[in-house]
Amino acid sequence: MTATRPPAAVVVLISGNGSNLQALIDSQQPLGIRIAAVISNCPDAFGLQRASEAGIPARILDHRQYPDRTHFDTALTALIDAYDPSLVVLAGFMRILLPTTVAHYQGRMLNIHPSLLPRHKGLHTHRRVLEAGDRVHGATVHFVTAELDAGAAVIQARIPVRQDDTEADLQNRVQAQERLIYPKAVHWHASGRLQLKGNTAVLDGTPLPPQGVTHQQDGTRLTLSPV
Ligand code: GRF
Repeated sequence: MTATRPPAAVVVLISGNGSNLQALIDSQQPLGIRIAAVISNCPDAFGLQRASEAGIPARILDHRQYPDRTHFDTALTALIDAYDPSLVVLAGFMRILLPTTVAHYQGRMLNIHPSLLPRHKGLHTHRRVLEAGDRVHGATVHFVTAELDAGAAVIQARIPVRQDDTEADLQNRVQAQERLIYPKAVHWHASGRLQLKGNTAVLDGTPLPPQGVTHQQDGTRLTLSPV
């Protein structure tokens, strides 16, 4: 008889809409996770409603109520740790965390960024892709490290940029891919297949290349390489 692993406790941090959160809520069981809490630094984030509707504790920690980053991060860490998660998922969380906070969650904090990192770190990625005339764009799931958007990549989804694409077009197509790759990365972590060793993501014991696993859209088929 094989022992079944209990679902991994996950805390999701958001600041807004929460479409990535919804993708995780919708597949908690197949992903092997239990979302223990959703925490938002913005009281009006729509993602809080998504959590409540799914019966998940929805917590607000408004950064404007704290005198500085240190106080906010201390409160945030205490709140997260009260749920004892094995993984913290940043899903559109728009606060920069202090290096000490990030270090506390080393190897168990993931983020998703709407670009093919290391290209276009920071904000307004879709606009910058159009301005730069890039022919490919996408999203990256990566471990969080102290340097912004610079942690080891786990998985990237790539999309072609069409000549008549607008910022909104790119955002829609990239976000559709995000909702595929983020659950996959979370599942890998929850099932013990994904680790951070040094600054390299390791999947099934194999160090991943700098861009992580590549998620290609091939017509209607989705293929993963190298796994
Ligand atoms: C996503 O595009 C993600 O890549 C970025 O913020 C956006 C969040 O969207 N970090 P949502 O709140 O999950 O809908």
